[in-house]
Amino acid sequence: MLFALTPLVLLTHHVSPAFAVRYAKRANTSDVLDWVNPLIGSQAGGNVFSGATLPYGMVKAVADVDGENTGGFSTDGSHVTGFSALHDSGTGGNPSLGNFPIFPQICPSDDINSCKFPIAARATNYRNDSIVAKPGYFGVTLDNGIKADMTVSEHAALFRFDFSGSAPGNGTLDPVITLDLTDLWASRQNASISVEAGEDSESGRIKGNGTFLPSFGAGSYIAYFCLDLAGGTIKDSGVWVNDRAGTEPKNLYVTRGFNLFYLQAGGFVRFKGPVTGSISARMGISFIGTEQACQNAETEIPGPEFDFDGLVESAQDAWREKLAPISIQTGGIDNSMLISFWSAVYRTMISPQDYSGENPDWTSDEPYFDSFYCIWDMWRVQLPFLTVVDPLQQSRIVRSLLDTYQHRGWLPDCMMSTCKGWTQGGSDADNVLVDAYVKNLTGIDWKLAYEAIVNDAENEPLEWSIEGRGGLASWKRLGYIPYLDFDPNGFGTNSRSISRTLEYAYNDFNLATLAEGLGKDTYIKYLGRSSNWQNLFKPEQTSVINGTDPGFIGFFQPKYLNGTWGYQDPIACSPLASFCSLTSNPSETFESSAWEYMFFVPHDIRKIVELLGGEETFLRRLDFFHTSGLADIGNEPVFLTVYMPHFAGRPGLSAKRAHDYIPSRFNASLAGLPGNDDSGAMASFTLFSTIGLFPNPGQNVYFIIPPFFESVSITSPLTNKTATIRNVNFDKEYNNIYVQKATLNGEEYTKNWIGHEFFTEGWMLELELGSEESEWGTREEDRPPSVSTGSVEYMM
Ligand SMILES: *[C@@H]1O[C@H](CO)[C@@H](O)[C@H](O)[C@H]1NC(C)=O
Ligand SMILES: *[C@@H]1O[C@H](CO)[C@@H](O)[C@H](O)[C@H]1NC(C)=O
Ligand SMILES: *[C@@H]1O[C@H](CO)[C@@H](O)[C@H](O)[C@H]1NC(C)=O
Ligand SMILES: *[C@@H]1O[C@H](CO)[C@@H](O)[C@H](O)[C@H]1NC(C)=O
Ligand SMILES: *[C@@H]1O[C@H](CO)[C@@H](O)[C@H](O)[C@H]1NC(C)=O
Ligand SMILES: *[C@@H]1O[C@H](CO)[C@@H](O)[C@H](O)[C@H]1NC(C)=O
Ligand SMILES: *[C@@H]1O[C@H](CO)[C@@H](O)[C@H](O)[C@H]1NC(C)=O
Ligand SMILES: *[C@@H]1O[C@H](CO)[C@@H](O)[C@H](O)[C@H]1NC(C)=O
Ligand SMILES: *[C@@H]1O[C@H](CO)[C@@H](O)[C@H](O)[C@H]1NC(C)=O
Ligand SMILES: *[C@@H]1O[C@H](CO)[C@@H](O)[C@H](O)[C@H]1NC(C)=O
Repeated sequence: MLFALTPLVLLTHHVSPAFAVRYAKRANTSDVLDWVNPLIGSQAGGNVFSGATLPYGMVKAVADVDGENTGGFSTDGSHVTGFSALHDSGTGGNPSLGNFPIFPQICPSDDINSCKFPIAARATNYRNDSIVAKPGYFGVTLDNGIKADMTVSEHAALFRFDFSGSAPGNGTLDPVITLDLTDLWASRQNASISVEAGEDSESGRIKGNGTFLPSFGAGSYIAYFCLDLAGGTIKDSGVWVNDRAGTEPKNLYVTRGFNLFYLQAGGFVRFKGPVTGSISARMGISFIGTEQACQNAETEIPGPEFDFDGLVESAQDAWREKLAPISIQTGGIDNSMLISFWSAVYRTMISPQDYSGENPDWTSDEPYFDSFYCIWDMWRVQLPFLTVVDPLQQSRIVRSLLDTYQHRGWLPDCMMSTCKGWTQGGSDADNVLVDAYVKNLTGIDWKLAYEAIVNDAENEPLEWSIEGRGGLASWKRLGYIPYLDFDPNGFGTNSRSISRTLEYAYNDFNLATLAEGLGKDTYIKYLGRSSNWQNLFKPEQTSVINGTDPGFIGFFQPKYLNGTWGYQDPIACSPLASFCSLTSNPSETFESSAWEYMFFVPHDIRKIVELLGGEETFLRRLDFFHTSGLADIGNEPVFLTVYMPHFAGRPGLSAKRAHDYIPSRFNASLAGLPGNDDSGAMASFTLFSTIGLFPNPGQNVYFIIPPFFESVSITSPLTNKTATIRNVNFDKEYNNIYVQKATLNGEEYTKNWIGHEFFTEGWMLELELGSEESEWGTREEDRPPSVSTGSVEYMM
């Protein structure tokens, strides 16, 4: 099916006037990339990486700012402090990567010491209306007129600095490029640099390395760079420390410094001005060594003439190919919905990052992915989305998880910059592996997957804040993670007893699924453990909000080792109270309240319906949760709650709820995400919701609601078959959002959910819409599976 054309895409439409983002006007308006705005989520905590990258690329080039810089750049009007080539996307907490930033300047006098070396001195505003962000390309002009633009290959970036617009008649006209041995978080422990840029030569090279700290993890990592500068005749070069520089020596080794005093240091190369054209800066990166960084640059971006436009084209071709499986018939909906949609698809493939060939810790022929930041965020919707549109890549991602298990002894849970990151809840890679299993991803060693998950389920690591699970002795003996557990077997942040109990239960459910699939009788044991969540349900617990009891009874509560209940206010950690993370306000529920976790039993929602007093109360409670300010739509645990009415036979209420949040909380504005994108988690929530099929990962289930477009088709890259979900009676005002009747391949279809075969077999699902709820999908036998109703496949 064709990508439906809507005349000219006015991409500036929903963008705040200060950021009239310019897109190259193409004659070919069917180019899907015209609908991608990488700046969505570059404000208000979205923390999206908005620069140039290939799909899953290791190198990501952008301008770094001194404002909201977790992802490097932000459209927050702050100052540019440098241009760097490593970034993460959408993460929370500390700014990630941004190593070895380079910075262009014209200095006031011939004295090199008149240049601005330290971050605070060199920070310069950018012109709001100068930003050009497109897949594979990022450009910005500084207030002083210096224009920078950049593109990338897999392991190298190419920057261009054009000085021709900088204020004439001031300064020497000699362009200077500095390199700073730092990162965005100023986490450098030590670093080395050597500058090889002889006077009068036409190019110069700066090489070096640095040891840094991962932004949400343990240990340290070493990054290596190899920067080639060209485009003029070199005047001189050298190193700088704090605000002083010299042409001798040409090498420098800098440590952490005493008393936490952060030394600022790096190198510089000065060209004879004025230069005609741009100064090019080719930055090769490696996690293996400096030589490999240089080789990466030389192989991927050959010189001496760098083909900038060719790189942009290759990057854009790579992105077009990734977006190609999807086509839409819009039904005339607002362009902003399309921009939001395609930009979201784009954001699902920024991270995880393919570091194959750049693994410093072991050698292997298997793929090596990094920036699982964190799997807690990714397993629910982002990785399942890749399973639909990029299953071959998702297989490689899964293989990389298994290879990590083989070499490190544990599946990763959170991982960035080659380091182990902090575990947030359960052993969430288990969920990823089993989701891949139930969706028949190919090329994966399932026996190894089983072994890896059993390891998580049975063996407690000494340091369970970076892998595996904690409190396993209690888990096995008592069937819950106790409040203030006594756990001499391993060490971790001893909080989150409720959320860990819930997550471990789901991990065990997934293990049971895999065990059953592989014909192992251990599935009985793990299925038993998957009901452990019930041990923390306190039927008589109430919740008082603002002095009023809304009348809902039964919540998860913490329980001591001796079986006595502890207490956590059910609204604690909700948006009505204060945020709870690992370090700030650690509680028995992680980043979400007991109100929200009440719904986190993805394998047995029907039991929740029953425990909460039946369908009517369950639905009222769900509605109160979403309308009272208790739901945190900007964080992952909430996602599934939007679709839970399906389990109570009210799929129409799920559709209604999805429309309540999209586009009001997920939209095409630069501040259009309700929280950190978390790689592409917020993006994927939007995507599955708008295509009308929302996953319950680990299970072969997608909940059906009407797509937000007239129809969506997705061609499976595994089978080349095209699946289509199509609305009949679609109206772009979204009055008709209730399914009246459905057909699957022309036959009546009454279930309110469907399996992954829909995608791989290329089926056609037609939904006839109306403006009121109907009988469709309401019957007992039409609801999604739940363990306790016996409708999970292997229970039958
Ligand atoms: C339009 O762009 C698509 C995608 O790049 C390409 O396949 C097609 O040939 C282009 N059409 C024209 C007329 O340039
Ligand atoms: C640029 O945008 C920022 C953020 O919206 C704003 O604070 C600043 O005033 C703008 N600057 C100009 C010159 O418009
Ligand atoms: C030169 O720079 C100085 C300091 O930034 C500024 O005050 C002065 O106006 C500039 N002169 C010209 C001719 O641009
Ligand atoms: C650099 O710092 C790391 C981490 O603190 C340390 O392990 C390493 O020995 C240091 N390297 C040198 C050469 O001092
Ligand atoms: C970093 O570079 C310096 C200077 O070339 C070298 O002595 C040092 O061994 C390098 N460090 C690492 C970890 O490769
Ligand atoms: C997976 O493969 C099995 C065996 O070929 C098949 O029965 C099942 O329908 C497939 N599942 C999916 C989700 O494609
Ligand atoms: C159980 O342990 C908690 C915490 O130490 C304590 O407050 C409570 O009194 C104990 N209950 C019983 C029955 O011993
Ligand atoms: C509780 O009170 C606050 C402040 O008065 C208000 O914003 C909020 O909506 C109330 N929440 C509920 C659930 O009543
Ligand atoms: C877009 O989403 C943001 C973030 O959720 C929200 O604050 C804003 O109001 C939304 N804008 C529109 C026009 O709905
Ligand atoms: C799908 O199409 C691609 C490209 O045409 C081809 O290489 C591949 O073999 C096809 N796969 C199947 C299962 O037909």
